[in-house]
Amino acid sequence: MNTNNDLYELFDDLDDEEKLNTTLESGKRRPRTTGKHPKSLSAADRLFKHKQDDSRTTFKFTYKAARFEEWWLLESLGAFYEHKWISDVLRRVKGGKEASVYQCKPGVEVDAPLLAAKIYRPRSLRNLKNDQQYRVGRHDIDEDGHALWKEADINAIAKRTSYGEEVRHQSWIAYEFVTMEKFFEAGMDVPKPYAKEKNSILMEFIGDAATAAPALSGISLDRDEAKPLFERVVRNIDIMLSLDRIHGDLSAYNILYWQGEIKFIDFPQVVFPESNPSSWGIFQRDVTRICQYFSAQGVRTDARKLAADLWTSHGHRVFEKVDPKYLDPNDPNDRKLWDQQR
Ligand SMILES: Nc1ncnc2c1ncn2[C@@H]1O[C@H](COP(=O)(O)OP(=O)(O)OP(=O)(O)O)[C@@H](O)[C@H]1O
Ligand SMILES: [Mg+2]
Repeated sequence: MNTNNDLYELFDDLDDEEKLNTTLESGKRRPRTTGKHPKSLSAADRLFKHKQDDSRTTFKFTYKAARFEEWWLLESLGAFYEHKWISDVLRRVKGGKEASVYQCKPGVEVDAPLLAAKIYRPRSLRNLKNDQQYRVGRHDIDEDGHALWKEADINAIAKRTSYGEEVRHQSWIAYEFVTMEKFFEAGMDVPKPYAKEKNSILMEFIGDAATAAPALSGISLDRDEAKPLFERVVRNIDIMLSLDRIHGDLSAYNILYWQGEIKFIDFPQVVFPESNPSSWGIFQRDVTRICQYFSAQGVRTDARKLAADLWTSHGHRVFEKVDPKYLDPNDPNDRKLWDQQR
């Protein structure tokens, strides 16, 4: 089992088996097999067989993972371990359909108290939701962050061959990493990025040994604290614009809060303002969501004015009309705007 496609198929099969409520540990129920592999071997059996051949099994970690998850961690974080970027996986901070984040102990090559490893699930990459609207006007990049130039790669993506899909996934993850690097170097409030592997990103852990930083969405701020934090968020949005970037999925869910400080996260969908025709709408949505959160914290905000001021101060043109897909039918202000536009 060497290619990424084999790996992806295995992950998908494991996902299916999980759905069937099969406990891989107990093996109470025989998992079903797909037609893509010898019928006699279930994904769980293949996983185990592969694991036996794998030298990375020397990587033992504290976190008690289920059998499938353990193998997935070895596969995704093995290279970080081999390069001494991490020495242990301590716990899972957040598991999800799209990506899971783990708290890791740094290896000798990294001088940081703790690290966070974000690992993308292959299935989520395969079904990249609405990625098209973000990819418009944004060239695809390779694992090292360089623009793809080979016609074969570009054609494969356009034709959505399995190789093309793989290249597209790599580009999605690479964008998250190179964006973090760019933002961190520019002095933005983002976790320090350390390394990237095939499907995982290693970065500074926000929080401490016992607690991962919550997202702003889960925090009620004191009025005194809310105003300066809002200004700080706006300053970060301004830096992004000065770097010709829009977050693209900004909200209080993608800003972590720790000891009075904030850190922006989650950048694979980053948008280029100049070349994406929906950029103004996407930017307005980002600013509006931020204003919604801070209004609820007692800060007086005017999302439309703020978005337009920031946007035009960077030389971008404001389009009068807002694309209805960026309007919320349940929001009276959005409904009013829609009526005005019609
Ligand atoms: N550097 C970090 N330090 C601590 N916790 C982190 C870090 N990065 C991410 N997390 C945790 O993992 C969660 C998910 O991260 P992120 O938003 O990047 O992934 P996601 O796939 O978009 O997940 P979601 O769909 O939940 O937003 C965050 O909400 C946060 O709880
Ligand atoms: Mg997120």
